[in-house]
Amino acid sequence: MAIVIAIDGPAAAGKSTIARRLAARLGFIYIDSGAMYRAVALWASREKLDPSDRHHMEQLALAADITLEDDGARVLLNGEDVTDAIRAPEVSRAASLVATIPGVRRALVEKQRAIGSQNNVVMEGRDIGSVVFPNADVKVFLDAKTEERVRRRAAEVNGNREVISQQLHERDERDRSRVEAPLTQQPDALYLDSTGLSIDEVEEAILRLVRARISNGKEYR
Ligand code: CDP
Repeated sequence: MAIVIAIDGPAAAGKSTIARRLAARLGFIYIDSGAMYRAVALWASREKLDPSDRHHMEQLALAADITLEDDGARVLLNGEDVTDAIRAPEVSRAASLVATIPGVRRALVEKQRAIGSQNNVVMEGRDIGSVVFPNADVKVFLDAKTEERVRRRAAEVNGNREVISQQLHERDERDRSRVEAPLTQQPDALYLDSTGLSIDEVEEAILRLVRARISNGKEYR
C-alpha cells in the first residue's frame, strides 16, 4: 500500500516548501495539486476562455496533460514547461475560479488519486486530506497568520504588499466558502501554525507524526 502524507492549508502558508523537503527526506514523490488547477487556468487564459465557464473548463481539465517533473520542480502542460507562467497573479486568481467547478475538480482529483495510489507521496493542496485521500496516513493543516502569509508571498514575487494582501484575501475567501471541496481543517489533521516557526521546526513536527503513524520509528531511507 502506498503511503500518503496530505498537507492542506491556505495560500502562502509554506506548504510547498515543507512538502518538497519532506518528500526529499523520505524518498516520496512530491505533488503540488495547486499546480494542476493553475495549469488549467493558464490554458483557459491562453484560449481566451472565461475561467467561470463550467463546460469549457471541465473539457480543458479532462484534456490537459499535466506532468510534474524533476521532483515537482517543473510543471509541464501538454508538453510545454509552464513552471513560471502558472505563478502569475492573474493565473492565481483564475485558478481559484476554475477550482470552484465540480467537473474540473473531478478530473483533477482523478489524476491526483492515480499518482497517489501507485507511489508514496507528499501531496499538498486544499482538499487532499478531506476529498482526495480521506484515508491519508498523515494529515497536516498548515496555517500561518495572515500578515505573515502576505509578507512571505510579497517577498517571493517581489510585489506590492497591499495588492498581494487583497489578492490573498479574495482567494482564501473563495477557497473556504466554495460548495465543492472547500478548504477546511479535518478533525484528524495535525494543526500547525508556522508563523513563529523555522522551516526545520515545521519539518521536525511533521516528521515526528510520520514516524509515530507509519514507520514505527524507522526512517524511510
Ligand atoms: O501556492 P498557493 O498556496 O498560493 O496556491 P496553490 O496551492 O498553487 O493553489 C492555487 C489555487 O488552486 C487555490 O487558490 C485553490 O483555489 C486551488 N486549489 C484547490 O482548489 N484545491 C487544491 N487541492 C489545490 C489548489
